[in-house]
Amino acid sequence: MKIKQTEAKRIGIYTINTQMKVIKRLKKESERMGLKPEIINYSDVHIAVSSPRKFSIYLKNEKYSLPSVILNRLPAIAPGLSLMILSHFERTRRSVIINRAFRASVARDKFRTMQVLASKGFEVPNTVLIGSSKERDLKWVVKAVGGFPAILKLTRGSLGMGVVKVENFATLRSVLDLVKRTRKPMILQQFIGIEPGVDYRFYVVGYKVVATMKRSTRKKDEFRANLALGGKGTKYIPTKDEVKLAIALANTLRLPICGIDFIRTEKGMMPIEVNVNAMIGGIEKATGVNVARKIIEYCITEREKFLGKKIRRNSQ
Ligand SMILES: Nc1ncnc2c1ncn2[C@@H]1O[C@H](COP(=O)(O)OP(=O)(O)O)[C@@H](O)[C@H]1O
Ligand SMILES: [Mg+2]
Repeated sequence: MKIKQTEAKRIGIYTINTQMKVIKRLKKESERMGLKPEIINYSDVHIAVSSPRKFSIYLKNEKYSLPSVILNRLPAIAPGLSLMILSHFERTRRSVIINRAFRASVARDKFRTMQVLASKGFEVPNTVLIGSSKERDLKWVVKAVGGFPAILKLTRGSLGMGVVKVENFATLRSVLDLVKRTRKPMILQQFIGIEPGVDYRFYVVGYKVVATMKRSTRKKDEFRANLALGGKGTKYIPTKDEVKLAIALANTLRLPICGIDFIRTEKGMMPIEVNVNAMIGGIEKATGVNVARKIIEYCITEREKFLGKKIRRNSQ
């Protein structure tokens, strides 16, 4: 199979913010590999439909022909519009999208992620989507997750912001009052773990675990292990079963590239969230693995598979 030289060099990286470190890192690494990355910012895109079955795309108001591979790097906070645009890209069938829109929309929501994983039989922490915040209802919610302390989270938070440990009703009530006006959905989750202030990040690329680190908070009174909050990342060597679990989770969620967060419990590692736009710098530093390169290499392999299938389809 032959791809045109210019097309072979193209790779689209889809984002909501071209200045993000992780985007710059992926761009640089693909350039190092001799590619010509195109950073597609959703706010520069117009999408259009017309008959019959015509799906067009404009970038900065110019007609845009999509690269044959697009790496989706939408973070959890990405607006719905950015996912709508990505679904439109999918409809054109011009490109293979790495981390498809629907799958990314599940991952960016911590409740939906737990829902899907629980439905497939994986162990997850007891989690309740908070509906009413009336006293009687809240009492029920707290009981459902096993009492205090419990973890209150925005369903679409990231970098540890939007995660609060609550020890009593007074705090729960006042935090809920604070966020009520934003109308952001919240979950209450069972506080889990046998290692306080520690979690594990498994980086999956192409449904394989390529790097794993242990993250530990450096602050005495902090329970969140996120590097963005000052946590320390160190290389971690997972067991075979842990690797299997991470791969099974990525397959269940159909996310070939993702960062899975685990907490160690008496029952083994339990997932708490899955990130589509997991940061790269910290884990590369902690493990010495060139994660960015692995991501770009995977995209190129998938592009070849996709074009190969397309050529076969057209010649049939
Ligand atoms: N159920 C839980 N029990 C104990 N600690 C938790 C729980 N959920 C989250 N944490 C801690 O809070 C951190 C941030 O939570 P996480 O769900 O990963 O959200 P974020 O998207 O902000 O990273 C985790 O890395 C972990 O250290
Ligand atoms: Mg996390």
